[in-house]
This record gives sequence, C-alpha cells and structure tokens, in this order.
Amino acid sequence: MPTSLGRPAVVILLPATEVGPVSDELRAGGFDPLPVADAREMAALLDAKRDVAVAVIDLEGSPSNGHSAWSVLHRGRRRVPALLVVNASALDRISGDEETREDDEYLTRPYSAESIRWRVEAMCIRSIAVDDGSGPVLQTSIETADWSRRGQLLAVFNPKGGVGKTTLAMNLSASLTAKGRGVLLVDADTVTGHVSTSLGMEGVATVVDAWRDEPDGGPVLTFDELASVHSSGLKVLALSSSPIHTEVLEPQRVAGAVTVARRHVDYVIVDLHPSYSPLNRALFDRSDRILVPVTPDLPAIRAVIQLRDVAEELGMRDRLSLIVNRANSGVSVADLEKAIGMPSYAQIRSDGLLLVKAANEGRTAVEMAPREKIVQDFNTLADRIMGLPEPEAAKSQLRLFGRTVSARA
Ligand SMILES: Nc1ncnc2c1ncn2[C@@H]1O[C@H](COP(=O)(O)OP(=O)(O)O)[C@@H](O)[C@H]1O
Ligand SMILES: [Mg+2]
Repeated sequence: MPTSLGRPAVVILLPATEVGPVSDELRAGGFDPLPVADAREMAALLDAKRDVAVAVIDLEGSPSNGHSAWSVLHRGRRRVPALLVVNASALDRISGDEETREDDEYLTRPYSAESIRWRVEAMCIRSIAVDDGSGPVLQTSIETADWSRRGQLLAVFNPKGGVGKTTLAMNLSASLTAKGRGVLLVDADTVTGHVSTSLGMEGVATVVDAWRDEPDGGPVLTFDELASVHSSGLKVLALSSSPIHTEVLEPQRVAGAVTVARRHVDYVIVDLHPSYSPLNRALFDRSDRILVPVTPDLPAIRAVIQLRDVAEELGMRDRLSLIVNRANSGVSVADLEKAIGMPSYAQIRSDGLLLVKAANEGRTAVEMAPREKIVQDFNTLADRIMGLPEPEAAKSQLRLFGRTVSARA
C-alpha cells in the first residue's frame, strides 16, 4: 500500500453508510483510512500494521462487535486510542461505563464527517503530548508522517538577552512571508516576549488561554488554528501573555504541537527565551536549525561559546547557525568567528533607527523599508535558508569546519 506511507492510519469500524464519507474526509485530512467489517478483521489489521494512530468504532450496531473491537485495541501492550461513535440517547448509559480508557473519546450521532476528521487530528496531537516517550508507536507514526514533515522548524536562540533574537525572528519571518512562503512565528519567550505587540496585534489568543480552557470543554486546537494572521500574511502565535500562568505549557506538549504545526506552513520560526529551560530543550530537540544571533561584544560572545559547548554535549552542535548581528560595529566578522570557533551563517548590519521606527508602527523593518540595507541582509538570510539543497550538506560543511577548528586548537 505505497500511498499509505507516512500517513497516520485510522482504522474504521462503522456502518456501511458512514464508512465512505468518513474515509474520504480522513483521506483529505492526510490520514490513511482503513475500514474493517468486524472485530476480527480489526484484530488482524492491527497485528499486521503496527502504526495505527486512532480507531473509530461504532458502539451502537451489534453491541458485542463494537465492544470486542474496542478490547482488541488494548490487547497485550497495544494502546490505540478510540473514538467511540454512539447515539446521543446513549450518553446516560455510557457515563456509568468504567471500561473506556483515558485517551478514548465519544462522538455522538448525528455527526459530520468533518467533525470526525477534526477529532481524530486532536487525538493525535494530544497523544503526542500525553505519552511522549511511553507511546513510541503512535509518536513515530506522527513524527515520520509526510503531513507533519512539510515545514522546517527554525529556533532562534542565544542564552543572552538583547542580542537580537526577536528582531531576527520577526524580520526573517517577514522576509520569508514576502517571498511567498507560509510562516508561523511562535513567540515562546513567556517572560519577555513581545512579538504580538511589536506587530501591533493586541489581545490575540495565546496557547496558555486555549489550553487552560480545555478542561472546561474548550476545543483542542492546533497551533495553526490558534495563530492570528498579521496584515502581512504572517501567522503569529504567542505561548503566553503573562509570565506567571505558564504551568499548562508542558514542554513535550508544546514541542509536539510545534512539530505538528509544520504541516501547515513552510517554516515554523520559534523565538525563545534566553535560558536552558526544559521547554527550550524540548524545542531544540525538534528543531531543524537553531539560529544563534550574536552581537560583537564580550558577554554575547561568551554566551555563544557556552552554547557551543552545551550544544556539543546535547549532540546538536551541527544544527547551530551563527548569525552575526550588528555586524558592522567594530569587531571584524573574521575575529568573531575565530573567537567563537564557528563560521557565520549570515550577517545583519546595525540599523537601530529603522528598527525603532518599525516597532512604533507595529510592522517589521522588512515590510516598512524593503530597500534598506539591513532588510537586504534579512532577505539574503531568507534566501540562504530557502535555498539549502539538503540539510545533510549544511551539516557536513559545519562538521568539517569543526574539525578544522579543533585541529588548530
Ligand atoms: N541589527 C540591529 N541594529 C540595531 N539595533 C538592533 C539590531 N538588532 C537588534 N537591535 C535592537 O536591540 C534590542 C534588543 O533586540 P531584541 O531583538 O529584542 O533582542 P533579544 O530578543 O535577543 O532580547 C532592540 O532594541 C532591537 O531593536
Ligand atoms: Mg527577545
């Protein structure tokens, strides 16, 4: 079944009249629908195929059939979440039913095919969040799925504040957007983040707001659905608008949601808080590239040298890309590269006046002054990111450089 490669499989046990529309809808949503006729067929299919993400099961037909299909999902060490379809009138009977598991959900008739697709997607997202590590089968199927692989995840990080992380994240996002790429900019700096306000977007939804509403029956939304769209077309989402209400931001759940968001855009760009928090480390793990802005001053250089060593220990040094910010202010780029022991990936010159003006207008410099030199620097960086032939090529280049440096030392 070559077409099913990389698409999360959803096994379906529904009455004949419902199978068609539900399958079509799931297929359109990037899933691989696998209809079965009864519990035995479901058991055979699960034995043959290990990466079933969700099972949709009718509990109303022949009662023994739906229930035995359900029990097949939990046979041995198997754990496939179920979306159980029932008639609305059956809800009373079900509330006393102890049998279902935490990750099962009910859907009542009448339902739309679209609502099944939406629920299945939410269950996939939630299961990444809930059993990171303990649910390798499901997680693998989502991680390797084409539908979540589409965009690149770029983190912008330096453990020091004030070096231009947010400036870089915003203007690179704007540049890629202007070049026709779909971009989701995530403000993951829950302490000093100000992306939304800098872009003149007030009172927008945040991940914390959405996730705090979930226990009260609020919908489970993807980051793409939660994001607000800036007038430039850039999608923007902040994790939180307050530094003190961040308990719901479970690092693995955030990282999982960011990973899933790549399905909808070409680039997810995450602006990080300057720290080695569990959240940041979870995001590093999922990032294709970590853009590290550095300014030509000693504290910033020291911070990057520390980051280089930490990255080595975490096995992610080959994903660091050094961006020299305020590149034209005194220290030569060559000296900076030598001091840090890494080549620069791009350079951004200094232009404080334009950046302040842009912030005052709630726009990026890229949007406001496309002809300015600093904007051309951002565009050059965007081109480089877009034009990468293969991530592997960039990696081996960096590794080569690493050897040269250690040989010299
Ligand atoms: N290339 C640059 N030229 C001039 N000013 C800059 C440049 N990059 C950043 N800045 C200014 O430096 C300050 C800190 O930048 P910011 O992006 O908020 O850093 P961080 O997110 O790392 O804390 C801001 O006032 C910003 O306008
Ligand atoms: Mg910042």
